Amino acid sequence: MDRIPEPELMNDPAQALAYARADFEQPHSQFIAQFRACFPDWRGAGFVLDLGCGPGDICRRFAQAFPDTVIHGVDAAVAMLHIGRADLRATQLDQRIELIKGYLPGAMLPREHYDAVISNSLLHHLHDPQALWQGVLRYAMPDAPVFVMDLRRPASRDEATALVETYAAGEPEVLRSDFHHSLLAAYRVEEIYAQLRIAGIDWLCVEDLGDRHVIVYGYRPPP
Ligand SMILES: C[S@@+](CC[C@H](N)C(=O)[O-])C[C@H]1O[C@@H](n2cnc3c(N)ncnc32)[C@H](O)[C@@H]1O
Repeated sequence: MDRIPEPELMNDPAQALAYARADFEQPHSQFIAQFRACFPDWRGAGFVLDLGCGPGDICRRFAQAFPDTVIHGVDAAVAMLHIGRADLRATQLDQRIELIKGYLPGAMLPREHYDAVISNSLLHHLHDPQALWQGVLRYAMPDAPVFVMDLRRPASRDEATALVETYAAGEPEVLRSDFHHSLLAAYRVEEIYAQLRIAGIDWLCVEDLGDRHVIVYGYRPPP
């Protein structure tokens, strides 16, 4: 099944609210667990950049998992950031997490470089996937861990429909429809390796994870 792109930004308020209130406990806790498994020796401190942060759930989980980090999340969708900033104010984490409006590539960020770069579920939204890989090259300092997790495109529409039934049965229709479109827009391991070759990145591994995800990970080597 060929890839079917979806809109890049999640700027519709109803869509953003459904996404922000969805139950992502399983994949988002898996994101943190996989990060730890990929980088068992990382010192767990410094400035971390979350590309395509949405309402910031990964930022919050990462900040809780690594108490010596400060997280900058960047996203171009104001609707997502609005919810994320309100949610942050209700936690003790707002001193350590900043959600920044910015479109990738080219976003203006507070720091030149980051001690770690992470991203969850951004890649499948991008019309030009190089926006992510150029962001990694632009912002990850030498020795920084880079960890990207995303959906993986299934073999058929029927398989995508079955995944929606399995993982989003009780969710609102707007979220189920978004999930379906996201699966159809997602990339596969070999496509991601081709993107990395174009970017000149040979230090990231790409692997399937479970029945619907891929992970991309590696330490940025010194120049
Ligand atoms: C599926 S959401 C993932 C949000 C968050 N990372 C998470 O895991 O919950 C994808 C996000 O990427 C953002 N996005 C897509 N293309 C973007 C771009 N070119 N620049 C900045 N943000 C972008 C969307 O607005 C959306 O909030």
